[in-house]
Amino acid sequence: MKRAWDSYHRMRWLEMESPFKGDILRGKVAVVSGGGSGIGYEISAQLGKHGASVAVMGRRRHVLDAAVSALRSQGIQAIGLQGDVRKQDDAVRILECAFKKFGRIDILVNAAAGNFLVPAENLSPNGFRTVIDIDSVGTFIMCREALKYLKKGGQGRDNPSTGGLIINISATLHYTATWYQIHASAAKAAVDSITRSLALEWGADYNIRVNGIAPGPIDDTAGASKLGAGEIMTKSRENVPLFKLGEKWDIAMAALYLASDAGKFINGTTLVVDGGIWLSSPRQLSKEAVSQLSRAVEQRSKQTPIGIPKSKL
Ligand code: COA
Repeated sequence: MKRAWDSYHRMRWLEMESPFKGDILRGKVAVVSGGGSGIGYEISAQLGKHGASVAVMGRRRHVLDAAVSALRSQGIQAIGLQGDVRKQDDAVRILECAFKKFGRIDILVNAAAGNFLVPAENLSPNGFRTVIDIDSVGTFIMCREALKYLKKGGQGRDNPSTGGLIINISATLHYTATWYQIHASAAKAAVDSITRSLALEWGADYNIRVNGIAPGPIDDTAGASKLGAGEIMTKSRENVPLFKLGEKWDIAMAALYLASDAGKFINGTTLVVDGGIWLSSPRQLSKEAVSQLSRAVEQRSKQTPIGIPKSKL
């Protein structure tokens, strides 16, 4: 039964058509860190299917090779560039290679990230630092080194000769607090802050738009399996809006929206794509109990004003 459901779900995903026109990114060039797998791969594929040439960056050669061959098999111009976002020299080399290969860079997607579940008291300073280094420092390094190319990259229909754009993949962990992810929560808070600061400075000076996407739990990703997303969702069905895991496609469509002319006036925002899951909170009362309680309180307050001692009436 489960297998039948899985394969139905998979087929549906494979068949999902993009609602965007196929040429909205024609002539554009994108660099996607963490583009070899998961959400980063799906963003690379959808940018490519809509006309962009794509340089995927990642640490593992075999993952990059598989990604590039899958992208090329869909008619996408793609290259794989091995490197670590934590290393400035890697960032410089990779962006230079992408520029040499394709002649321009219009779009930078920072999708490389690291995470694992760990109670705060068991996390070493190096574990904390490692995730900050990948997510926050890595995002800053990539943005910084991409600037000289993005300044020349073109984006809008109205401003064909102006700057390119950046999309930072973030999360919703830090909007409240998330169990056992003190490191990733701090790292993504910094990423959102970087998004806003660069949107301000580079928006004003170079017409570069900088936005983020905050995915909820997304099916079939390293994040979902490492963080136990399925189990958590099952336990909290009662309190979860839309009650389902997202698909990588959902995040890639948000990236297309932000990268296309449809998003030409969007700058400095982080778009939450999670079906409203971050709003989840325990349901304290059933719907039935609420209407009974609420009516009863109204009735009582009409008879006796609330908060005024009976002796004063
Ligand atoms: N629990 C506690 N600490 C952990 C840990 C875990 N599950 N995994 C790693 N660490 C700690 C290590 O112990 C080490 O700290 P120490 O030197 O004090 O012992 C530190 O983190 C660095 O670990 P290391 O494995 O050397 O780092 P790395 O650079 O090779 O890998 C990770 C980085 C740990 C984030 C790794 O999981 C990774 O590469 N992730 C990328 C993919 C990913 O996480 N995707 C999900 C995104 S939501």
